[in-house]
Amino acid sequence: MSYDFSERIQRVEPSATLAISNLAAEKEAEGADVVDLSVGAPDFPTPENVTEAGKAAMDAGHTGYTSTNGVPGLKEAIADKLRDGGVDAEADEVIVTPGAKQALYEVVQTLVDEGDEVVLLDPAWVSYEAQVKLAGGDLNRVDLAPHGFQLEPALDDLAAAVSEDTELLIVNSPSNPTGAVYTDAALEGVRDLAVEHDVAVISDEIYERISYGVEPTSLASLDGMADRTVTVNGFSKAYSMTGWRLGYLHATEEFVSEAGKLHSHSVSCATNFVQRAGIEALENTEEAVVEMREAFRGRRDLLIDLFEEHGVDVAVPDGAFYMMLPVDADDEAWCEAAIEQANVATVPGSAFNAPGYARISYAASEDRLREAVERLADADLI
Ligand SMILES: Cc1ncc(COP(=O)(O)O)c(C=O)c1O
Repeated sequence: MSYDFSERIQRVEPSATLAISNLAAEKEAEGADVVDLSVGAPDFPTPENVTEAGKAAMDAGHTGYTSTNGVPGLKEAIADKLRDGGVDAEADEVIVTPGAKQALYEVVQTLVDEGDEVVLLDPAWVSYEAQVKLAGGDLNRVDLAPHGFQLEPALDDLAAAVSEDTELLIVNSPSNPTGAVYTDAALEGVRDLAVEHDVAVISDEIYERISYGVEPTSLASLDGMADRTVTVNGFSKAYSMTGWRLGYLHATEEFVSEAGKLHSHSVSCATNFVQRAGIEALENTEEAVVEMREAFRGRRDLLIDLFEEHGVDVAVPDGAFYMMLPVDADDEAWCEAAIEQANVATVPGSAFNAPGYARISYAASEDRLREAVERLADADLI
């Protein structure tokens, strides 16, 4: 038979970043030596004590369902962490999810109706658009590219975009794909607009532990933001736990009770022993987190220098492990050439609504980064 697919599912495309990673994997399977700079995952192992905590939890029989919103110990540890960041949080205001992506999905489904307007800051992570479209929302996009990917100089553009019609604004700092960390003045500008127009805000803080010389501010810690911000975070990036699938959202108890309905009817709960490993990650990984961050910082500096040597000026990212390389106007053709001619995998900026750029992930060793730049130069792509 031929299925009658929902109109909803036909509104979205598969994830572009995963599509490139799959292409790189295919080339590798054919024997090619691909430098894969397309991945959104740290290239470090999960800290050993976290893995051990997960195994111990499994051995101790923590293999059944947990309470829907998460085990109390993890929700407490998350609330503690949020309080350390200046957010007034209680354990009952947390939903633990299988990955931050699921948390974002639940938030968008909880807030956005057909025809509701959602404001995105471009370049924006690929799944925001898809999640808003799945909910039937309309996108209104503000382009940060002309402002060096920073929000503060784009506040007038944001003010022109946000109105009484806006339901939700999504902010992601440090940003995927640009690595930009928004200034306090920028976030205060967001706050002023959100309060003035009574808009809810998602603050996606998944890269918050990976920043260089600047401390990202939690939007929910600003005056006036506590009851209109949903903070989303997760374990994938800071603790190199992408495959464990663990994340969370924090908002008011009223919000949590509404979103909890979707959570309970879809995922039931995050994996029990993974949640227990999450407590260890939050409480005992400071050294490992700093080590990974410093490795990322060294790679960022190296790449900026290497591109500069080839005359390419890249906006220096203050966080995450990505940068946006200016390439041909047809960035998709450029990325295709990069993988076909140089065996270097990157993601076209168009996937993030930023044509003319390629996203470089520096979750790769310094040797591989050097190799990638050399290959791109040899193929006359930079
Ligand atoms: C900006 C951003 N938010 C959320 C996620 C989702 O992370 P996870 O579902 O692995 O926790 C990612 C992963 O790439 C991301 O880049």
